[in-house]
Amino acid sequence: MLAGKRILLIIGGGIAAYKSLDLIRRLKERGVSVTPVLTRSAEEFVTPLSASALAGEKCYRHLFDLTDEAEMGHIQLSRAADLVVVAPATADLLAKMAGGHADDLASTLLMATDKRVLVAPAMNVRMWLHAANQRNVAALRADGIVVAGPNEGDMACGEYGPGRMAEPLEIVEAIGRALGDGPLKGRHVVVTSGPTHEPIDPVRYIANRSSGAQGAALAAALRDLGAAVTFVTGPATVPPPQGVTVVGVETAAEMMAAVKAALPADAAVFAAAVADWRVANASQTKMKKDGSGKAPALEFAENPDILATVAQMKTGRPALVVGFAAETDDVIAHATAKRARKGSDWIVANDVRPSTGIMGGTENAVTIIDAKGAEEWPRLPKDEVARRLAARIAAALGSRG
Ligand code: C5P
Repeated sequence: MLAGKRILLIIGGGIAAYKSLDLIRRLKERGVSVTPVLTRSAEEFVTPLSASALAGEKCYRHLFDLTDEAEMGHIQLSRAADLVVVAPATADLLAKMAGGHADDLASTLLMATDKRVLVAPAMNVRMWLHAANQRNVAALRADGIVVAGPNEGDMACGEYGPGRMAEPLEIVEAIGRALGDGPLKGRHVVVTSGPTHEPIDPVRYIANRSSGAQGAALAAALRDLGAAVTFVTGPATVPPPQGVTVVGVETAAEMMAAVKAALPADAAVFAAAVADWRVANASQTKMKKDGSGKAPALEFAENPDILATVAQMKTGRPALVVGFAAETDDVIAHATAKRARKGSDWIVANDVRPSTGIMGGTENAVTIIDAKGAEEWPRLPKDEVARRLAARIAAALGSRG
């Protein structure tokens, strides 16, 4: 429910600013309080009077407006809202945000806030595609900022392509998701991700090449649908998403303990690349060459299978248990057998032959194996695979009640 929520709406200086006036109306219709803030250049496109008349609230404009500071300081203003929305987010505003600038009211509020921030970019297609802008947007996403749009289409400047601000109703939908108002609201999902490190001695370990990209994208997509996510991650190279409970672990045994501690959950998704074996005779001190030329013998012990353990729990099993299967041959046959062996509801199978470029890459081509059979998905960016998987999880939990 959006009703009763408060949004701080920063309107940037672009032609799409007129749509932000409509956005205020759409939010007000849904019972949302909107505090508008205009940048100096936004005032070239819309007036503070229109924004405050539609919002039914004072429109804030200048950092050094002493009356405003006396009424409500900029720190308080940045935190009084449930969500900060920047629409239109111009290339300049995005660059300021990515660089941490704070030289006017809008950028200072964005630096001072402790709330989630959603941006709706709007700019010329060349500007949107410019390497500097793409770098800034990637940095903002990595900081946990939600990016809604832009859409592709005709632009006010006469060009065509991505850069049009998302429509007000699309932004309203994205705001709902950012406020945890999605189909997974009230659901708890545990996600494992990344590799594990199995120590040989205090300085050496056995690891694998998992980056944790798919697991992190999945946790973010589940969060965006409103789930409370516990993200149990090994030492991954991709940072964990914002807005989830992160439990950092190193070994498979620690991951098993962290997953058990995180239960109960409505769903559990095991995207981690867990080491099958740990070193049974790991040394407490750094192993040294003894000059004899004899290599030390490592003994291995099998790690707990976290997916199988949780999938086969007699009591307290999550309603939906999802595993992954990275295969190099006969993907569907192996993944189907794995689903039966482990007892998971679904297996998300992918072909990780080096020629596919999937392992360590930005795209994934998966097949979902469930009780009904195999559903093959096209090759997609890992973020999109995550969004589709999160939506499938939401649908499955919805039907299970
Ligand atoms: O058996 P395999 O390692 O191919 O199975 C992969 C699936 O099992 C993944 O979902 C992985 O996260 C999970 N797994 C696990 N604990 C292990 C080994 C694998 O949870 N010890």
